[in-house]
Amino acid sequence: MSDAAAADIVPPRGDRPRVLSGIQPTFQLHLGNYLGALRHWAREQDSYDNYFCIVDLHALTAVPDPELVRNSVLELAALYMACGLDPERSVLFVQSHVAAHAQLGWILECYTPLGWLERMTQFKSKAGAGRERERAPAGLLTYPDLMAADILLYDADYVPVGDDQRQHVEISRDIAQRINSLRGEVFRVPEPLIRSTGARVMGLDDPTTKMSKSTALTKAGHAILLLDLPDTVRHKIGRATTDTNPSVGEPIGPGVANLLEIHASLRGTSREEALAQFAGKSYGALKSAVTDAVNEALEPVQKRYYELRADEATLRGILARAAERAATVANVTLLRVQRAVGLR
Ligand code: TYM
Repeated sequence: MSDAAAADIVPPRGDRPRVLSGIQPTFQLHLGNYLGALRHWAREQDSYDNYFCIVDLHALTAVPDPELVRNSVLELAALYMACGLDPERSVLFVQSHVAAHAQLGWILECYTPLGWLERMTQFKSKAGAGRERERAPAGLLTYPDLMAADILLYDADYVPVGDDQRQHVEISRDIAQRINSLRGEVFRVPEPLIRSTGARVMGLDDPTTKMSKSTALTKAGHAILLLDLPDTVRHKIGRATTDTNPSVGEPIGPGVANLLEIHASLRGTSREEALAQFAGKSYGALKSAVTDAVNEALEPVQKRYYELRADEATLRGILARAAERAATVANVTLLRVQRAVGLR
C-alpha cells in the first residue's frame, strides 16, 4: 500500500475503549495466566474493543525449539478461544504475522535510554549476572520495547494484565511519553488494567514466588496447568504448602492466603468472604474446596480446547483473518511514527 493510501485509512474505532494484551506461547498456560489475565479478557469482551495477541516474537527470547514455538502458537490460539475469547468480538492474532510490531520495536529501541532497560526487574532476573549475562540473548534487554510496540501500535487505552506485568506497562508509558515530548503527540498513552483478585497467583510449592511458566517446567508441584487432569489438580493442591496453624485462621500464612485467593477468584467472592467461609476449618477442607472450584472451571475449558485444537485449518484461518485486521490498524500507527521520526 502507498503511504498516501495508508494515511487515508482511519480504522473504525467505535465508542468502546480499546484493550490490547498478549501471552507468550511457551509452555502450557497455568492458573495464574487464567485468573490474572485470560478470564478477565473473556468476561469483559463486550465492554471493550479487543486486541489479543500471541506474542511469539517475545517467546524467542527463551530460544525455544522451533517446533515447540509452532505448536505452542496453535495451542495458545485454541486456549484463548476455549477460555471464552470470541474471534468475532476480539481480534486474536499472532504478533509475528503483523510486521509492524518488529518495525516499531526497533524505532522504540532507538528512543529508549539503555538505563531504563537495564533496570527492569525481568531483565535482571532472567539475564543473571557475570558470565551468564554475557551469554544472555540481547532480546531479553530490548523485550520492553517490543512489548511497548505491541501496545502503542493499537492506540490501546488499557492493557489488562496480571500484577507482574505492571512494570512493563509503566515503561511502555514512559517510552510513549518520551517520544511524545520529543516528536509531538505521536502515541496514545495506555493505562494498566489490573484486577483486584487473581492478579498475583503464587506458586503452590513456594507461595513466596509467583506462579510462573518457567518454574512449572522444572517443578511439577509448582503450578496448575490449564490442561491438567482433575486428579493431577487434586494431587497438586493436596501437596500445596500451607502453614503451621492447626486450621485456617489468623495469622494467615502466604500458602493459605494463596489458596483463599484462588478460591475467592474462582467463586467470585472477596478475600474477606473466603476467609470468613473457611475460618476454623481444616486445611484438608480448604484444599478440597479449592480443588473442586479449579476442576469445575477447567472442565469446560479443556473440553472446548481439544475440539478446537483438532481443527487446525479453522484455527489457522481465524489467525490469518485477524492478522489482516490487526495490520490495518498497526500500519497506520507505524506510518505516523515513521513520519514523526523522519523515516518518511
Ligand atoms: P506472560 O505470557 O508471562 O503472562 C500472560 C499474562 O498472565 C499474567 N500472569 C499472571 N497473573 C496472575 N498470577 C500469576 N502468577 C501470573 N503469571 C502470569 C501476566 O501478568 C500476563 O497478563 N510480557 C508479557 C506478554 C506481552 C504483553 C504484550 C502483555 C507481550 N506483549 C503487550 C500485554 C501487552 C508476558 O510475558 O506475559
